Amino acid sequence: MYNEKELIASAREARENAYCPYSGFAVGAALLAVSGRIYRGANCENVSYGGTICAERAALATALTAGERRFIALAVAAGDTPVAPCGICRQMLAEFGDIAVLRAAAHGDEIIRTTLSALLPEAFTAYSLDK
Ligand code: THU
Repeated sequence: MYNEKELIASAREARENAYCPYSGFAVGAALLAVSGRIYRGANCENVSYGGTICAERAALATALTAGERRFIALAVAAGDTPVAPCGICRQMLAEFGDIAVLRAAAHGDEIIRTTLSALLPEAFTAYSLDK
């Protein structure tokens, strides 16, 4: 087991540093690795729009750069009601297997618990290449 409240609090803290002058929609993510370490990310927007990096992928890139490859859970925090990772982030996370996903709003107690495999069923993964 792991500390859900701590992971969500980390995502909310990361959200405070979101760079989102174009959408005004701040997102925070926190990714718990098997090592026990938590890696944070916030959305990083760009005037080109398409260059934007979501909070979840920012957290994943930071974790990978630290050498992590195995993960337990992701928390994402944004909005008035719990958000879910976008399609690109689901695909990037699926590279590293199934994990728990905690969806939270920016504030409040509501948590939606799901999994990456539920969010991205029948994913295209490295195993697909062997077929
Ligand atoms: N965003 C994320 O950071 N994560 C998601 O899963 C959905 C969208 C960001 C991208 C953009 O900066 C803003 O939210 C509005 O789409």
